[in-house]
Amino acid sequence: MPSMASNYSTHTAKINQLNGPKADFLARRQKIEQHRKALPIATVEKKLLEEVSNNDILIIVGETGSGKTTQLPQYLFNGGFCRNGGIIGVTQPRRVAAVTVAKRVAEECGVTLGQKVGYSIRFEDTTSSSTRIKYMTDGLLLREALLDPYLSKYSVIIVDEAHERTVQTDVLLGLLKTVQKTRSSSAGNVARSDHTKPDNGVLLEKEEDVQSTSIVKNSRGKKLSPLKLIIMSASLDARIFSEYFGGARAVHVQGRQYPVEILYTRQPETDYIDAALITIFQIHLEEGPGDVLVFLTGQEEIESIERLVQDRLPKLPESKRKLSIIPIFASLPSEKQMKAFLPAPDGFRKVILATNIAETSVTIPGIKYVIDPGMVKVRTYDPSTGIEPLIIVKTSKAQALQRSGRAGREGPGKCYRLYPENEFYKLKDSTMPEIKRCNLSNVILQLKALGIDDIIGFDFIEEPDRMAIIKSMELLFLLGALTDDSKLSDPVGHQMSRLPLDPIYSKALVVANQFSCLEEMLIVVAMLSVESIFYAPREKLEESRTALKSFSSTEGDHLTLLNTYRASDEFLEKSKLVSSNEKAEKNLRKWCKENFINSRSLKHARDIHRALSSGLTVQIHPSSVLFRAKPECIIFDELVRTNQNYIRNISIIDYLWLIELAPQCYASQE
Ligand code: CDP
Ligand code: MG
Repeated sequence: MPSMASNYSTHTAKINQLNGPKADFLARRQKIEQHRKALPIATVEKKLLEEVSNNDILIIVGETGSGKTTQLPQYLFNGGFCRNGGIIGVTQPRRVAAVTVAKRVAEECGVTLGQKVGYSIRFEDTTSSSTRIKYMTDGLLLREALLDPYLSKYSVIIVDEAHERTVQTDVLLGLLKTVQKTRSSSAGNVARSDHTKPDNGVLLEKEEDVQSTSIVKNSRGKKLSPLKLIIMSASLDARIFSEYFGGARAVHVQGRQYPVEILYTRQPETDYIDAALITIFQIHLEEGPGDVLVFLTGQEEIESIERLVQDRLPKLPESKRKLSIIPIFASLPSEKQMKAFLPAPDGFRKVILATNIAETSVTIPGIKYVIDPGMVKVRTYDPSTGIEPLIIVKTSKAQALQRSGRAGREGPGKCYRLYPENEFYKLKDSTMPEIKRCNLSNVILQLKALGIDDIIGFDFIEEPDRMAIIKSMELLFLLGALTDDSKLSDPVGHQMSRLPLDPIYSKALVVANQFSCLEEMLIVVAMLSVESIFYAPREKLEESRTALKSFSSTEGDHLTLLNTYRASDEFLEKSKLVSSNEKAEKNLRKWCKENFINSRSLKHARDIHRALSSGLTVQIHPSSVLFRAKPECIIFDELVRTNQNYIRNISIIDYLWLIELAPQCYASQE
């Protein structure tokens, strides 16, 4: 009967509505569970928990992709290492890794990002008071130490990717060595330290108890709990870390690796971009299914290859155009970074264009072919001139091996090295740690802000060059950040150390405030903090030059950047008057394209600008008795907007009160 049939179909539709998304969700969860169980690290979960319980400092070495970064924090959480509200902090040298891994782990745990699992990177914090597994950059944890010298909210700190030996990792290791020792002695157990005051000279009180055990309290008088410190590395050589931490225990997590066929070019390539482009199409047209990972040196190269591939695709027969190009690099907006981890649409081959972040920091599934031009961009420093150029150099052997390894994670793969075989043997074994080849002014400023005045005496895992220390100190003197006796100057040095920027930019902002051009300087610094804003494709050189002219300032490039930012802002605001925010953003991207502006870089600059502006600049109203005072921290009742932003009815408060009364907002101080 028709009526019954229609009733029946309505009923089924309802069931489908209920079951559809739920069934998808359950299937996805099941898949994730299977994936987790199949990871090499899963077989040693119990053993790892025992190792962490028995060792306050542990070094874990494991091949890339074995599951260290995503799984270990979850094991520790389930193993009770967050009892009493402690947080498991995991540091990454790269923001992309912190973001993508946190998102993945939140999904694996079945929670919304920012609840149990979150990430915190410069200018972006997704954590909340319920976050227990927190991924962050190593630089960010160093900044947290400025406010909370014992990192007391962490029960476990995992320094991940330690083999990368970024300057921030190296400094963090030095700091954590002391923090860990002090917190152990504070708990009155095992390693009793003769330091009652860490080298960083921070707020510490020593108390003798009845058994005269050293008890260390933090500035709020709270007893500190011991800290578990885990160093994770993808390099098989754990010796350097083990020795540095007084013979700390090192364990090895076995990986899974299928054979990878290595192919070399017959002759050296004059243009590796062109060679990479040809190889992408060669693989796509001649090889079986499997995704491709191409290692490039930076955003500009990635975006130029992306455009070149898109331009050439329409020239292929219709059936061969199923190539999905996905970039992944540090400054890519975080919502775009996750695209690399999603499977390509049905029948498509995914080509990931990545910087060296894909060497060990992030593991992208599905890769069968790796293209390695053998180049990497590094920061160098010449202490004699103070110049700090970013240069493109050959990778080390260790990097080449890590890169080719990416092709053999899920089955046999192929790696195309875009240089002749004899060149491989000439490569350096490993990369020189960054601390030996960078400007140290930022590090020194941070150490000074932590109260560590004796830079030469700091316990670095590997000492930086003396000349580099001296030259970097000279720069800080020139900028007025240090006093004659090499202490942080007040207020300039202190103000500079609070800004998460290169000291030169920090000083520019501090001074700009005095010269009433803070707003302009904030824009310029934000624009300088991202990769190039303008691009000029070879085939449209004239058009791009004309576009640039409409923003250019006769005074130079800095003001041209300012003009560009303002023009984009004006365009966006006008667009918002007539369309939705989403549509306006889309229009802005189109505007960028027409003006040869890199819309990703511009968006990044806008985000940085927003983060740097930290609210509103206000003045104390002349009617207040505090009009001429310069209080550190105040509360106020009223904001009055005239030609200035004035605040009225003000009282001076102690910043520490905020932490006590509103720990959910100011928790990082405690
Ligand atoms: O840290 P390690 O290199 O040992 O491995 P991992 O980063 O924990 O990755 C373990 C697995 O999780 C790999 O199979 C990755 O492909 C997968 N993963 C993922 O699917 N999506 C992410 N965003 C991160 C990791
Ligand atoms: Mg990892």
